[in-house]
Amino acid sequence: MNNFTFHNPTRLLFGKGMIEKLSTAIPMVHRIMITFGGGSVKQNGVYDQVIKALKDRDYIEFWGIEPNPTIETLREAIQIAKGKQVDFLLAVGGGSVIDGTKLISAGIQYDGDPWELVQKGYYYHTVPMGTVLTLPATGSEMNSGAVISRKETQEKFPFYSNFPVFSILDPETTFSLPPYQVACGIADTFVHVMEQYMTTTDQSRLMDHWAESILSTLVEIAPKIKEDPRNYDLMADFMLSATMGLNGFIAMGVTQDWATHMIGHELTALHGLTHGATLAIVFPGTLRTLRKQKEGKILQYGERVWGINSGTTEERVSQAIEKTEQFFQSLGLSTRLSQEKIGDTTITEIENRFNERNAAFGEAKNVTGSVAREILESCK
Ligand code: NZQ
Ligand code: ZN
Repeated sequence: MNNFTFHNPTRLLFGKGMIEKLSTAIPMVHRIMITFGGGSVKQNGVYDQVIKALKDRDYIEFWGIEPNPTIETLREAIQIAKGKQVDFLLAVGGGSVIDGTKLISAGIQYDGDPWELVQKGYYYHTVPMGTVLTLPATGSEMNSGAVISRKETQEKFPFYSNFPVFSILDPETTFSLPPYQVACGIADTFVHVMEQYMTTTDQSRLMDHWAESILSTLVEIAPKIKEDPRNYDLMADFMLSATMGLNGFIAMGVTQDWATHMIGHELTALHGLTHGATLAIVFPGTLRTLRKQKEGKILQYGERVWGINSGTTEERVSQAIEKTEQFFQSLGLSTRLSQEKIGDTTITEIENRFNERNAAFGEAKNVTGSVAREILESCK
């Protein structure tokens, strides 16, 4: 196990009706900006619960943070927040609203163009923020990351700042999710765990078992959620799996990959494809391309998550990869680029972008432009 520092300061408030706790979670002194997406919270009652909890408080609302939040929208929010001396942010929505709000929280404290912060990749001088999560997927509610897009140049980059001080997770808020967003959320959670697990064996027994427990939970609940998407206990397990999948708990002292995510971000930037949907296509391709390098871990995963314990090594590895692709298919997601009408031009563009940036992702830092091409070629 490698040395590590672990610190996760986000307070979780989990369960039915917990949105009312907002009244005490945000100290009275603050001037609040509440940030929202496109309006789903008005239809499912979340907006009403938030406003009820914050009645008599000093707040303004900012609407319109879009899926894959753009710098163009966030610049507007930052300007308004600065003008109104906002000193606390409350993000109400999915990963996009939360990510966008992380950039707003940094942008308020920065005099230049906030895109400079995205290019720098991090900025830790922020105003505090809390969240009310409505879509289990990204883990943004309990991590310090964000991913910000720029429409003008069709770019999308990770950005790091501070953790939310609290996050409210009420599984009932997920009952209004469209099935496609649930599928993408499950795929995203699954691949987050894989990015931290699917590297090499024998780094940490504890991290391996924790990661496998989240993977197995997802495999168990995914078909049940499809049948019964308003089942509180199922959605509670899904919500907590997503949060635990990317809040540092399964990453202690182990190497990480993230190549699939970096390729996926390019597919979103170039085609607008939903984040989880990009991963369902790319991740099986990453396994197919790097099957030798990851062989030991693929065998372990196949055995512990899918019960594959017979056949030659080659057969078992192939089966584990096939099971993974079939799992994404069972969610109703595409697993091939052609299904999304994405072709060679995009593969070449991604290879070129990686080369221009001298990219080398993955636990072995060998996913360069040409390896990204190989991965994408295997996803056709
Ligand atoms: O905008 P509204 O009207 O709220 O609708 C949203 C949006 O259209 C809707 N939605 C959310 N909650 C709902 C709901 N509809 C009905 N009922 C509800 N309860 O769902 C749509 C998608 O929302 P979005 O926030 O975009 O989805 P998600 O949570 O998957 O976030 C995706 C973004 O997070 C980034 C992705 O790259 C992408 O930009 N990620 C952030 C990470 C992080 N911060 O650590 C890690 C991830 O790997 C990921 O990259
Ligand atoms: Zn993700």
